[in-house]
Amino acid sequence: MSTQIINGFSKFPKEEKLAFLLTNKIITDQQLELINEINLKNNLNQEIIENITENYLANFPLSLSIVPNVLINNRLHFVPVVTEESSVVAAASFAAKFWALHGGFQTKVINETKIGQIHFTWAGNFQELNEIKPLLFKALTKSIDVVSENMKKRGGGCKTIELLDFTPKLANYYQLRIGFITADAMGANYINTCLEIMADALKKFISEHFENEKATVEIIMAILSNYTPDCVVECLVECPTSQLQSVSGGLNYSDFASKFKLAVEIAQIDPYRAVTHNKGIFNGIDAVVVATGNDFRAIEACGHAYASRNGTYKSLSWCENDKDLFRFLLRVPLALGTVGGLTSVHPVANLALQILSKPSAGQLMQIASAIGMANHFAAIRALITNGIQAGHMKMHLAKILQHLNASKDEIVLINREFKSNKVSFNDVSSFLEYHRKLKS
Ligand code: MEV
Repeated sequence: MSTQIINGFSKFPKEEKLAFLLTNKIITDQQLELINEINLKNNLNQEIIENITENYLANFPLSLSIVPNVLINNRLHFVPVVTEESSVVAAASFAAKFWALHGGFQTKVINETKIGQIHFTWAGNFQELNEIKPLLFKALTKSIDVVSENMKKRGGGCKTIELLDFTPKLANYYQLRIGFITADAMGANYINTCLEIMADALKKFISEHFENEKATVEIIMAILSNYTPDCVVECLVECPTSQLQSVSGGLNYSDFASKFKLAVEIAQIDPYRAVTHNKGIFNGIDAVVVATGNDFRAIEACGHAYASRNGTYKSLSWCENDKDLFRFLLRVPLALGTVGGLTSVHPVANLALQILSKPSAGQLMQIASAIGMANHFAAIRALITNGIQAGHMKMHLAKILQHLNASKDEIVLINREFKSNKVSFNDVSSFLEYHRKLKS
């Protein structure tokens, strides 16, 4: 595992990147072989890929990239990411390196509780049921013993049960809200299995304790909730304000810090801005979530609901800029898994987890939050200095040059020409055509 920050990683040819990762024990010989195999055939374990969904037609490849220099709680990581947005890896790498030189990302898992719900209707006496709920909870907990042996060995299982009365809002509607710890699994299968068993146990319990028509419970549904406000990770970056000078894009460091804080405050009061602001966080988080075979829709849905938990949609991050200290914090729910589901089946997701040294779910939460923070910091920094288009245009220009098969000399020339000019495909191709004619 590398302990040194690497400069200019993005400029290395791919073979040198791989050689660096191998020499620094970020990947093993076996993993290198796997990467080469994936690149050569681009259809590794085709049978597995074809069986992920119904009605398979073709593979849809995206690039698996590395964000280098991610210092999290004093340990250096090289983080595999997958994204379709070209500037995301460059932005995360830029911010990761800056923070690696200024204390790194300080992360901590606040809690890892996941939630399941049994929704039911019942015409019985709630007061009576509420009085005997300790007995009910005991019966429910016991009912899942058969499927919980392994989970309990790993410190998981059912941890809390609440009986909720929703009848003031919806006639006869009650709910059991159940908290689970699922160790390193995302836990959807385990939770849903438990809920279905518990739903039967609930029906049985009520039929044994109540008479006649009041004995009948109707189970509407039993399913996990993707809202997990108690499965949360926090990520902090901080440094003396003066150290921001190298990233302040020509602003004085203290003006940069004030403008940065203001940009974050705007996202705390205006949902239109907050959605885009938080999207910048999910640029990084999703890239880790996808690379590791986790469920990005669940992560996004939960994150945005969490951002609205106090009644208004707000920023997931906040900035404390006191005197000489710049502090930027992010708190986000991330119900991730590192075993089970696609994480173990998909060969590239599995490779990504291996590159991360097979993290626990809690460790993956911290890694994802750090990449989210890296992208977020880079986005706000770009917005309040040169604007977001400068970086995007650089990537756009690189793609145009690749498309036009520009030579090394032509790339240098065009990069110089378009450094301060607006980039468009037509302008770049006309310029190149003109230059090529002049030369011939
Ligand atoms: C673009 O993918 C993300 C940003 O819009 C985020 C933001 O506005 O903070 C740049």
